[in-house]
Amino acid sequence: MKLSIIYFSKSGKTKEMAQVIAGGMKSLSDIEVGIFDLEHIDYEFLSESKAVVFGTPTYYANTCWQIKKWFDESKNIKLDGKIGAVFATADFAQGGADTAILTIINHLMVKGMLVYSGGSAMGLPYIHLGAVALKENFEQSKPMFEIFGQRIAKKAIELFGSENK
Ligand SMILES: Cc1cc2nc3c(=O)[nH]c(=O)nc-3n(C[C@H](O)[C@H](O)[C@H](O)COP(=O)(O)O)c2cc1C
Repeated sequence: MKLSIIYFSKSGKTKEMAQVIAGGMKSLSDIEVGIFDLEHIDYEFLSESKAVVFGTPTYYANTCWQIKKWFDESKNIKLDGKIGAVFATADFAQGGADTAILTIINHLMVKGMLVYSGGSAMGLPYIHLGAVALKENFEQSKPMFEIFGQRIAKKAIELFGSENK
């Protein structure tokens, strides 16, 4: 089963977490992960993916304009029926990462995606809207991002496992 991670990253933090999420996903069998920065998306792989995770740095308490622009220009990119999940990196706890995530979730809803947070109902680590990594505990957040990836992959297998891989 194919899963995609799409991110924008200027100074590398969001990219690093995309790789950690991919590691968590790949801990399940028969999972192939495509990690794409916005400029280098393999659209065939994306269309075959059962889940798409979007990653953004937090810019002025919101998603970066690069991700917003991608969605604004994505009219012909079909993502409906796929699982959609979001993560963000930020410098500060009060820096607005949750708002950045919610802006992207808005777009996932418009696309008709099945939004999945990895939910706090799953227990620890609690992930309410999506995974967030802050500057102050970036390294310590990695196990949580790995679990975030695992939960998304498990949900994709649960929902789509019987379809062709
Ligand atoms: C233009 C700009 C605006 C930013 N605004 C915020 C902000 O509002 N809140 C915050 O916590 N961090 C803010 N940051 C910090 C980034 O979100 C943070 O360093 C992020 O991890 C960078 O991701 P990257 O390394 O993938 O580019 C801002 C950074 C830039 C460049």
